[in-house]
Amino acid sequence: MNQCFATVARGLEALATQELEQLGANSVESGFCGVAFEGDRALLYRVNLWARLPFRILVKLHEFPCHDAEDLYRGIQTIDWSQYLTPDQTLAVNVTGKHEQLNHTHFTALQVKNAIVDQQQEAFGDRSNVETQAPDVRINVHVDRDHCTVSLDSSGDSLHRRGYRPAVGSAPLKESLAAALIQLSGWQPEQMFYDPLCGSGTLPLEASLKALNIAPGLFRDRFGFETWLDFDSALLEQLIQEAEASKRDLLPAPIWGSDRSEEVIQQAIANAQRCGVLDHIWFSSMDLSDVVAPADSGVLFCNPPYGERLGRDSDLGAFYKLLGDILKQRFKGWTAFVLSGNKELSQSIRLKSSQRIAVYNGTLPCQLMKYELY
Ligand SMILES: C[S@@+](CC[C@H](N)C(=O)[O-])C[C@H]1O[C@@H](n2cnc3c(N)ncnc32)[C@H](O)[C@@H]1O
Repeated sequence: MNQCFATVARGLEALATQELEQLGANSVESGFCGVAFEGDRALLYRVNLWARLPFRILVKLHEFPCHDAEDLYRGIQTIDWSQYLTPDQTLAVNVTGKHEQLNHTHFTALQVKNAIVDQQQEAFGDRSNVETQAPDVRINVHVDRDHCTVSLDSSGDSLHRRGYRPAVGSAPLKESLAAALIQLSGWQPEQMFYDPLCGSGTLPLEASLKALNIAPGLFRDRFGFETWLDFDSALLEQLIQEAEASKRDLLPAPIWGSDRSEEVIQQAIANAQRCGVLDHIWFSSMDLSDVVAPADSGVLFCNPPYGERLGRDSDLGAFYKLLGDILKQRFKGWTAFVLSGNKELSQSIRLKSSQRIAVYNGTLPCQLMKYELY
């Protein structure tokens, strides 16, 4: 049984706990910026393939008390690395956490790497090379308050990079955050979904992947565990085939996205094509001022520009007021969710929110505001 830790964005721990339970994980326990759980190899592969919220799934190898660099070296050397890594495989070490003595992540990573390759030299007279971009084995070392946890990173590249989105607009949401917002909203695929400020389409695309029961990991080139010594390719192939077979053929309700920029709409279309949902989803270029409700009811979702990443803009207040007016006048019968990282701007919407959910967009504290429009 593997002891695992799924890393997630701050604030999404409870939601990720539910997701992991639904995927069949055992002993699931919410932590800070992550969720601990247990499971066998099939579960590890399934979580990497299906989970929409985590960044990485770490598999714990060892933990030990660690006060300084010497403790770290000794602790790392108590692991028999030949079980996980041969000298002809490459490695990378990622360090996370806060520690009074070990406060330079680069130095800490170097110390870990040295402990591993020294052990290899002694045993085989040969050692692994470091490869930071696409290593065969990625090692995660978390040092926190005199405690060190050593794990293998089974995901490789962060899971939020689904692989369907080489093309992105000017301030795209991470795919995992978009999936989390949709989950938080309670949207059901039987309801129409519309994002009138969709950029490169992350929200409508994540909604369609969920509604069509498409596993988000199907678009990746590879998972970290595929270059592990114990990789079971037949098992992964079986899980991929099961995922392919469980896709739904049709959306129960339409999913739309629009944006005033023709360029980002072309990116959204290219992204939809990459994840095979272009026949199901509808994108068009349209200014917000021309937008009308495409149905009597549904869920409107958007993340308007808020100055942080798109540059300060004195007209943003007027833009938020326009958004509020359009929601009020043209979307009666709908529920709207607006993500904003700027409280002042949110107030310019001038509608009373029925719920506000605190979330982080990277390091930026944001709010997902819910408006019942009637
Ligand atoms: C923060 S971005 C949305 C990013 C998007 N959620 C994604 O993940 O790619 C805001 C979007 O609002 C669009 N926008 C700004 N003013 C607009 C307007 N008046 N009408 C329609 N779209 C507008 C921009 O083109 C931009 O793509």
